[in-house]
Amino acid sequence: MSTATTQQTAYNYKVVRQFAIMTVIWGIVGMAVGVLIAAQLVWPELNLGLPWTSFGRLRPLHTNAVIFAFGGCALFATSYYTVQRTCQARLFGGPLAAFTFWGWQLVILLAAITLPLGITTSKEYAELEWPIDILITVVWVAYAIVFFGTVAKRQTSHIYVGNWFFGGFILTVAILHLVNNAELPVTALKSYSAYAGATDAMIQWWYGHNAVGFFLTAGFLGMMYYFVPKQAGRPVYSYRLSIVHFWALIAVYIWAGPHHLHYTALPDWAQSLGMVMSLILLAPSWGGMINGMMTLSGAWHKLRSDPILRFLVVSLAFYGMSTFEGPMMAIKTVNALSHYTDWTIGHVHAGALGWVAMVSIGSLYHLIPKVFGREEMHSTGLINTHFWLATIGTVLYIASMWVNGITQGLMWRAVNEDGTLTYSFVEALEAGHIGFMVRMIGGAIFLTGMLVMAYNTWRTVSSATAAQVQAAGQPA
Ligand code: HEM
Ligand code: HEM
Repeated sequence: MSTATTQQTAYNYKVVRQFAIMTVIWGIVGMAVGVLIAAQLVWPELNLGLPWTSFGRLRPLHTNAVIFAFGGCALFATSYYTVQRTCQARLFGGPLAAFTFWGWQLVILLAAITLPLGITTSKEYAELEWPIDILITVVWVAYAIVFFGTVAKRQTSHIYVGNWFFGGFILTVAILHLVNNAELPVTALKSYSAYAGATDAMIQWWYGHNAVGFFLTAGFLGMMYYFVPKQAGRPVYSYRLSIVHFWALIAVYIWAGPHHLHYTALPDWAQSLGMVMSLILLAPSWGGMINGMMTLSGAWHKLRSDPILRFLVVSLAFYGMSTFEGPMMAIKTVNALSHYTDWTIGHVHAGALGWVAMVSIGSLYHLIPKVFGREEMHSTGLINTHFWLATIGTVLYIASMWVNGITQGLMWRAVNEDGTLTYSFVEALEAGHIGFMVRMIGGAIFLTGMLVMAYNTWRTVSSATAAQVQAAGQPA
């Protein structure tokens, strides 16, 4: 490629570098809060008797930090990287990309201030109050302009499947955010939902479930479709399956929300519909998982020496596991046991740690050296150490929550012959004590892995010269 063309098409890697570094930092912060609240469930004194540090306020801080700060930054970094490389075009919109970076960091900062202060809408995963919601909308519109503008000016004839998933995620999250956050402001920091009663609950869980489906799944599948083939050095196993996967997933996900509202005031038919759609959802989910796994055909031996590939493949295994478990938990009779118990928490983290965090970590280990002009990460051995810490941490977390969840479900429903409850609530709580400890240890092990990643990243980044960083923006 001539120098003139090279200059013209130089990629915007600066914003990718910024988001990538913040992913690691917010990952550590969000998971550290996770370990703290896990410890509070073991030793309630750690609430410190202060309102700001109580479990009820720190829990949404954890969920917002890991989903929107850690997960969000990972999605911004990887989507901006992927869309430029697969479209052979620099990010559209000039300074808009930088605006999305600083705007998103401001959203995170405001969340970190307001949530411990108890300023919340009380809608799960949509706790932020209306002024922050407006800021999110502005940033998200800018994100959509940058992303779709880049797709529109692509040099390639077709749109790579990874971009379909990123695009689906951006569009759907925009709609979810606007609909669920329709609210009536009463003061600068207080609003009421535009919906009431069962309608409010249904809108909330239509949002909540699709936040899982589109924020925590579709975007990360976009990541999977770019980074798995790249790292394995193999083309996607079946391009046709990837297209079927995309349309099937987005068509089915949107209907499954009522499985969060089994045995509530929601009409029974809506609950049953949610259950059936959740069962159908197993098929597209596994279609995607199999497509990712089979991409390794002929390259399985690479797993022996490549811990980045191991992160990616194990994330797919956890994705397969959690998308099998989810449909089972959506069956009403199974949900009658699992709902309100730690089983749900275990399921959440099988997806969150095993799938979302591990696919992000694997993708970042691939991406970070590339955007800083380095051959590879500072230490492959440390990536391997991180892989084992993450895997062991996740397994301890999930296994302890399964045991706790099933124990709680069975103890709560046990009745004596005369119809009275066999166990008091406190007895069921005591039975979970060891499980809470194991979960906390598992979480601490996972967090240690993130610290190892931060060190490895710092060594990689700090050894890059200005010339190397500059050269990284030029397409090969
Ligand atoms: C070191 C790692 C982590 C630890 C120790 C941890 C710990 C916790 C704890 C203790 C809770 C509260 C459980 C309860 O109320 O009984 C929780 C909830 C939650 N965490 Fe984490 N977490 C970690 C990582 C993550 C990550 C990476 C994500 C997402 C990407 C995540 C997403 C969530 C969600 C969505 C909930 C709410 C679940 C629900 O309401 O059903 N966590 N976490
Ligand atoms: C086929 C796919 C899936 C289905 C059908 C499904 C189904 C379910 C069901 C039935 C529940 C329990 C609802 C309740 O009793 O309250 C649940 C909770 C949850 N799932 Fe999944 N799941 C799937 C995949 C995933 C994945 C991949 C993730 C994470 C990346 C995830 C994250 C969550 C979260 C965060 C909750 C807790 C929501 C809350 O109550 O706060 N799910 N899911």
